[in-house]
Amino acid sequence: MEISNAEFVISNTDVTKCPKSTLPEYAFIGRSNVGKSSLINMLTQRKGLAMTSSTPGKTMLINHFIVNNEWYLVDLPGYGFARRGKAGMESLRTLIEDYILEREQMTNLFVLIDSRLEPQKIDLEFMEWLGENGVPFSIIFTKSDKLTSGKLKDNINRYLKKLRDQWEELPPYFVSSAENRLGRKEILDYIESINNG
Ligand code: GTP
Ligand code: MG
Repeated sequence: MEISNAEFVISNTDVTKCPKSTLPEYAFIGRSNVGKSSLINMLTQRKGLAMTSSTPGKTMLINHFIVNNEWYLVDLPGYGFARRGKAGMESLRTLIEDYILEREQMTNLFVLIDSRLEPQKIDLEFMEWLGENGVPFSIIFTKSDKLTSGKLKDNINRYLKKLRDQWEELPPYFVSSAENRLGRKEILDYIESINNG
């Protein structure tokens, strides 16, 4: 799929104020600093469209970006980050959960996993919660440029093995790099195939 147009639409702390539109939405979630905003910029090839930072906790709102005037990319705040204290973390969690459970246009959630790390409890539990709530999701292993290809393969296989213990069927998964654009075509083709239903 070619992206001819990608624009920021609105930021929200309230799910009910998200765009009144029936266009399909693809949202990005995962731990703080995993590379959600960078991936949106990589997919759209618009540097600076979504705000990124080397400090975790950059994205604190629900951000809608419209692509080709046909569908949305949604940048969500990361989870598992405590800088704003327990109350702040709790309100972010509610915001994320409300969006995921209430937003009917949300067509697929991409769960981002740092390909360098061994399986993290917080991510596995989050995906379990998605399963319990019937939320359609797929996985993206990010920052693949930071590993040798052998190590990357090992880490992904270890992760898939862990997921097989949890799931009868594996969700679709992708490998990405915001640095060298690995995975761009595959992720966009996947979105296109869902859009074309
Ligand atoms: P929050 O909004 O804080 O939850 O973080 P985020 O998940 O949106 O992460 P963000 O895109 O801001 O990236 C965090 C840091 O990781 C930045 O310094 C990025 O440059 C870096 N980064 C993101 N993706 C990649 C990647 O694929 N490769 C490399 N080498 N660095 C990356
Ligand atoms: Mg972000």
